[in-house]
Amino acid sequence: MNAPQTLSRWREPGTSRVPFWAYTDPSLYQRELERLFYGPHWCYVGLAIEIPNTGDYRLSWIGERQVIMVRDRIAPKDRATDHGIRVVENRCAHRGVRFCQAPMDGQTGNARSFVCPYHQWTYKLNGDLAGLPFKDGVKADGPEGDCVHGGMPADFDIGKNGLTKLRVAVLHGMVFATFSEEAEPFDQYIGPQVMPWLDRIFQGRQLQLLGYNRQRIPGNWKLMMENIKDPYHPGLLHTWFVTFGLWRADQKSRMVMDEKGRHAVMISRRNDGGANKVVTEGVTSFKANMALNDARLLDVVPEPWWTVDDPSNPGATITPTVTMITLFPSLIIQQQVNSLSTRHIVPRGAGEFDFVWTHFGFADDTEEMTQRRLRQANLFGPAGFVSADDGEVIEFSQDGFKQWGEEGATLVELGGREDDVGQPPTEHMVTETLIRSMYAYWKKAMGIQ
Ligand code: FES
Ligand code: FE2
Repeated sequence: MNAPQTLSRWREPGTSRVPFWAYTDPSLYQRELERLFYGPHWCYVGLAIEIPNTGDYRLSWIGERQVIMVRDRIAPKDRATDHGIRVVENRCAHRGVRFCQAPMDGQTGNARSFVCPYHQWTYKLNGDLAGLPFKDGVKADGPEGDCVHGGMPADFDIGKNGLTKLRVAVLHGMVFATFSEEAEPFDQYIGPQVMPWLDRIFQGRQLQLLGYNRQRIPGNWKLMMENIKDPYHPGLLHTWFVTFGLWRADQKSRMVMDEKGRHAVMISRRNDGGANKVVTEGVTSFKANMALNDARLLDVVPEPWWTVDDPSNPGATITPTVTMITLFPSLIIQQQVNSLSTRHIVPRGAGEFDFVWTHFGFADDTEEMTQRRLRQANLFGPAGFVSADDGEVIEFSQDGFKQWGEEGATLVELGGREDDVGQPPTEHMVTETLIRSMYAYWKKAMGIQ
């Protein structure tokens, strides 16, 4: 793809200014799909527990391409080395039909094989083409005896005409895939700075699916990534956070990024709520008199796995109450007290994205803990007591960018103007370092220098 005109338009050096056109330009967005979502990046597809049995499948998205996550049949002897999960593109190799419709609920199903309705080409669960009608033509009686009409050319190779098969990586029950042969091995892609924080939430535990939320947000997809790399706003925008002490500027916090600046973890520890003049005075979202009618919404019970060895301080431990992990380009993993979810970003053009929340717990949770996780999930999702605020400000941001035009840019200077890539974690939350670092990587990947 030729570099769009826009690429020479990033006038300021560095990433402390992000031009508004980076969120609105349709040709730039096409380049993002090619270079980021379909390029050498691992994208989230779903959870392995969503397809527990052989033949179970679930439709998902990587960028604007629909994919099928499916559990293949595997021989018992291969079970130790093969998780059996395949990801194939939902696009028929014959004439491009999006053949799999998941008729029950539009998302999930179970199949012995996939059959395209148009001409009934049939694919194995692993995406191989198993057969097609009239491949060898139709026998007919001709005046000179038997003859064959039509059919595929003699050199048509069934082995070369399957579905697009993606590379798949499964980490702690989360399924990732990439269209690219160039993407580095998955562990390397995540990197040693971020991996311990994924291990902390998931390691060794069977997950339990609790439910979904889905919403369409009228804003550029990167705004969602920025929102979860932005520790500045939660204690200012969110009444719930600042009033009940779930996230405030006086909390002990840490901002971690991977060595390329693209993934991040915002880590923080809750304090007791109530007024702390330094961080609540003048904060309009702080409501000293606000109380809950149902206190169970914040019936927080510490869990043993919250405490881990501190990756930054050998010999010490750390007990966060919240970790917000962003895996570039399209996944957020949230632990906010007892509530856990993955949040999948599915771009829908430069100005819109779908946001799919998958709430989960652990198979060995007590029923009481499951109910607690579900109740706390009310803070999140499209109408969540907290997250509704984020959806709204993202929409307002996009509205601002649209009305401005060529010269406008966001200002990302909190904590400095450098991109900070390769720097050690920041031990407070009064910084936009993770946003600057993401754009440093984005510019490189997009070929903008
Ligand atoms: Fe799928 Fe023809 S388009 S079989
Ligand atoms: Fe927020």
